[in-house]
Amino acid sequence: MDKVHLINHILIDHKIAILRDETTKSKQFREVIEEIAMLETLEVLKDAPTKNIMVKTPLEQVEQTVIKENSIVIVPILRAGLGMVNGVTALLPAVKVGHIGMARNEQTLEPVEYMCKLPENIEDKMVILLDPMLATGGSACAAIQTLKNRGAKNIKMLNILAVPEGIKRVTEQHPDVDIYIAKVDRCLNENGYILPGLGDAGDRIFGTY
Ligand code: PRP
Ligand code: URA
Repeated sequence: MDKVHLINHILIDHKIAILRDETTKSKQFREVIEEIAMLETLEVLKDAPTKNIMVKTPLEQVEQTVIKENSIVIVPILRAGLGMVNGVTALLPAVKVGHIGMARNEQTLEPVEYMCKLPENIEDKMVILLDPMLATGGSACAAIQTLKNRGAKNIKMLNILAVPEGIKRVTEQHPDVDIYIAKVDRCLNENGYILPGLGDAGDRIFGTY
């Protein structure tokens, strides 16, 4: 389980309470999704590709380690992953953004990929997949496979809520992928929704309910 990183922080719990609350409107829901994505980004960047540059302060020159922003690609899984993008780009404005469109079939709960647009040369990049919800793990596994088919070797995934069955599926099928999770919830209901969860993340972000 050393590939599963739980981000334990009261500030994240505080914000998840706002997401869970059924009375939270889309505007605030979007803002809080972004804020949590930003907080999770701090954690994932502990593994960021870096380089050393020389910086001239008003007093002297100093060698300084910085992040190689152009070696990082973020890939939201549409739709709900889009809600996390601004939280990451607020910290790393130069990252490139790919998109994978994935929708769960409501009956089978299996994912169907409906679009894929990725930057060139992801094989030597750190690719960060974004999706607030890791439920059965079907969408995540399919998206990771798409990235691997395009050559990605260094893949991280940021989720906000996850359940043990989804974590198990991803870690079994893709043991090389690091997963960053804000909160592990109890289980799935018979419709594949996370309990206690926050409902349908895409619908709450985009107001389509
Ligand atoms: C949601 C969510 C994940 C997926 C998780 O997307 O954003 O992508 O379900 O479920 P899984 O782990 O069982 O695959 P959904 O298919 O509802 O599409 P949307 O983001 O467009 O609402
Ligand atoms: N997708 C969601 O948006 N919510 C869930 O609880 C499960 C999958």
